[in-house]
Amino acid sequence: MIDFATVEQIKDAAKIEDVVSDYVTLRRRGANMIGLCPFHNEKTPSFSVNPARNIFKCFGCGKGGDSVHFIMEIEQTSYWDALHVLAKKYGIEIRERDLTPEEIAARSDRESMLTVNDFTQKHFYENLHKHSEGRAVGLSYFRERGLREDIIEKFRLGFALDARDTLAKAATVAGYKEEYLIKTGLCFKNERDGKLVDRFRGRVIFPFVNISGKIVGFGGRVLMKTENTAKYINSPESEVYHKSNELYGIFFAKAAIQKKDRCFLVEGYTDVISMHQSGIENVVASSGTSLTEKQIRIIQRFTKNITLIYDGDPAGIKASLRGIDLFLSEGMNIKVLLLPDGDDPDSFAQKTNASDLQEFIEKNSTDFIRFKIKLLLDDAAGDPVKRATAISDILDSIAKISDHITRSEYIKESSALLGLDEQKIYYEINKIKARRAEKKPPKSQDGSPESQPEKTSEYDLKADTSFDKLEYELLQLLVREANEPIIETETDKTTVAQYILKELQTDAIEFRNALYNKFLAEFKNQYSENNNKIIDYFKNHSNAQINNLAIDLIEEKYVLSKIFEEKQTVTAESHFDNRLIEKERIRRREKLGEKVGRVVLSYKNHIILERIRLKIIDLKTFSENGDFENAEKTMNELKNLENLKIILAKELGERVILKI
Ligand code: CTP
Ligand code: MN
Repeated sequence: MIDFATVEQIKDAAKIEDVVSDYVTLRRRGANMIGLCPFHNEKTPSFSVNPARNIFKCFGCGKGGDSVHFIMEIEQTSYWDALHVLAKKYGIEIRERDLTPEEIAARSDRESMLTVNDFTQKHFYENLHKHSEGRAVGLSYFRERGLREDIIEKFRLGFALDARDTLAKAATVAGYKEEYLIKTGLCFKNERDGKLVDRFRGRVIFPFVNISGKIVGFGGRVLMKTENTAKYINSPESEVYHKSNELYGIFFAKAAIQKKDRCFLVEGYTDVISMHQSGIENVVASSGTSLTEKQIRIIQRFTKNITLIYDGDPAGIKASLRGIDLFLSEGMNIKVLLLPDGDDPDSFAQKTNASDLQEFIEKNSTDFIRFKIKLLLDDAAGDPVKRATAISDILDSIAKISDHITRSEYIKESSALLGLDEQKIYYEINKIKARRAEKKPPKSQDGSPESQPEKTSEYDLKADTSFDKLEYELLQLLVREANEPIIETETDKTTVAQYILKELQTDAIEFRNALYNKFLAEFKNQYSENNNKIIDYFKNHSNAQINNLAIDLIEEKYVLSKIFEEKQTVTAESHFDNRLIEKERIRRREKLGEKVGRVVLSYKNHIILERIRLKIIDLKTFSENGDFENAEKTMNELKNLENLKIILAKELGERVILKI
């Protein structure tokens, strides 16, 4: 047990921003710092660190506390172990009072497993450097592969002797319990004689160092590949090692990832290590499997920019493309780097000096979608069926991009590359999204009409994307900003929802998109009854399509983000802070008012333009048929519409009307 004075000393030394920065990229925001919360999934930051008070707080999931709490939560440790972690970080010597037997027994499984792993790593390390077999076989293997001494040291590489139970014996002698040797998968029991046997035998060892520097598992590589041995044997899943949650090399890469604001992703352990040796340290490996969502979340805490490095084997690349779509829906920016034929990152880094490697990467990285389009189209050259599949595959990826603006940029670009009309692409992508919306949540069990797909209205068939887009924007403003005031005087207060609903009602406007219109109708009802719970209502909606739309509307990146400062009013300590917050509030209200006004006007403008188009067709028909009476009537209606158009155009400003 750590004595009280030492606890105080540790808490004083552990600056919260410093501790958190080991796990999360923080940006300054006024007196505080913000970042993506490591404790729950989010795309916009609600995790805040207050250096003055030395605490953190997440406004999304509610977790908060001091540095010790942060470590406990993120490392899943006890209070005392968190103090140990911090003491180590700040070089504070811990004075312990003796543990009672009860305290020893209470140390969790997890901690015991980590301790065994730690011992094992040192054991393998000693084998590699001190044991004659380790030196002759293991060390010379690493040297042959061109690894420098400092790199072998840094990655804590080791060697497992080619014997039945060297580790089991050493660990037992050192007092480690059989239970934990088995739970970590380092050893297993021989069925016949009940004795412990080592998992890793006659292999070079790559320890898995987790994000905070703990050894959670090991990979062991055979020295010579023969047909019936697996090249790698890895630690099994355990309480401390979940393959899908780990990224090989993250501990050694995280500082560089933050600094460079980019993460390179490779496949293998040796790829990571050789790139480090060449001076590129912002690199991690997915360890040969396709990337998981959890792994993406980890990278995302440090950067939004990823470069995937592939060796030039087209079949392998094509197989991995699907998994990458996951990144797109996470709002990440992805680049791809293709290595010259026959090279993997390891071999390429080994034969290229640091500056050439850097230069090669910069020159040859391509944007992911562009890469995918080129790869698939090249592959489909001259084969119309393959081409059609390729196109639908590409559009599928684009439809996954969560950010509206980025998505439309890609649509523009792929329209050029594929030689397809942009409107047509929009239409196809809307279809894909609608299909996905139907599929995503499970259908209700009784097969009630609620879960049936919407009937498409005649307007949808025309696929006028500008209507769609504006309706979507209106819904987004309604849902996200419902209760935000846009007019606020002593006598008058109008919220975004009140304003939009009134504007739509006075002109008896219904949305074209059937789904959006249904959403709007529900919103109206729900808003009048329960305006505070509106987001929850839609997030938990039983209709799959409505629910899915709601999630898109709520989660999507969005320019007028909820201001963080507003939530801070509670904690703001000085009068000065409050004045700043008030100013920010007014600025935001004005911006919001302007945006709401503009979207409503654009929408009305679109309706008028469409009516004009229809009237012109009528007029033409009447004139051709010699129906002068109706032609005359239509002409007058047209005049009125044209007048309205001019009024709206004035309000909207020249910029918008020029486009039409
Ligand atoms: N892998 C594994 N088990 C295997 C084969 C591969 O776990 N039987 C994982 C490892 O994480 C490995 C990665 O997949 O690092 C990539 O595999 P590969 O390219 O075959 O291995 P390298 O690490 O490149 O090893 P080497 O260069 O030594 O052949
Ligand atoms: Mn390799």
